[in-house]
Amino acid sequence: MIISPSILSADFANLESEIRKVKQFGVQWFHLDVMDGHFVPNITIGAPVVKSLRKIEGIFLDTHLMISNPEKYVDDFILAGSDLITFHVEATEDKTLDLIKYIKSKDVKAGLSIKPNTSPEIIEKYIRELDLVLVMTVEPGFGGQKFMQNCAEKLTKLSEYKEKYNKNLILQVDGGINKETGKICRELGANSLVAGNYIYKSENIEEALKNLS
Ligand code: DX5
Ligand code: ZN
Repeated sequence: MIISPSILSADFANLESEIRKVKQFGVQWFHLDVMDGHFVPNITIGAPVVKSLRKIEGIFLDTHLMISNPEKYVDDFILAGSDLITFHVEATEDKTLDLIKYIKSKDVKAGLSIKPNTSPEIIEKYIRELDLVLVMTVEPGFGGQKFMQNCAEKLTKLSEYKEKYNKNLILQVDGGINKETGKICRELGANSLVAGNYIYKSENIEEALKNLS
């Protein structure tokens, strides 16, 4: 299980120490939520923050773009040092395949995300090309929301696609993940869990991480 703590729930005044606080337990991936106030009703961080975090050794920058026109900004995140760039199929439509191929041509992993109302069938044609599919189990925009189980159930169909087209595909889930909901996702085939509040608001981070793995 790849655990990707979302720094959206961390203390933004102390991002390096917030990352090290979790990294000390062996976590490598960190989930960076980029929001533009247009694709989602909230604004967070951009490429300069990603670039600054790149200086921390030994971490994998899992960048989740919740922005309109991701093709316009993708170079900024590639140059900033993202290891994985996940964007939303709802934001690209007919540009989706070109953007996946472009990201991969730059030696960066490519992920595609679906919002709660988007069905997995929409992305079947891209599965072969992708490194990761991100299933949103809350409406993107904010941390600390309630897990939507019906969204997690899309993992059944996505697991079939994984078996059929791309056995190395990472199936990641994001939104409302904790011990119980993480278990549901794991049983449905997820092999990566994003968690913000559950990790960063926990009294015992080591135990929270164990409960997700
Ligand atoms: C929500 C973000 C998530 C968020 C998850 O739009 O994409 O990554 O940080 O936070 P929790 O785990 O608190 O739901
Ligand atoms: Zn996210």
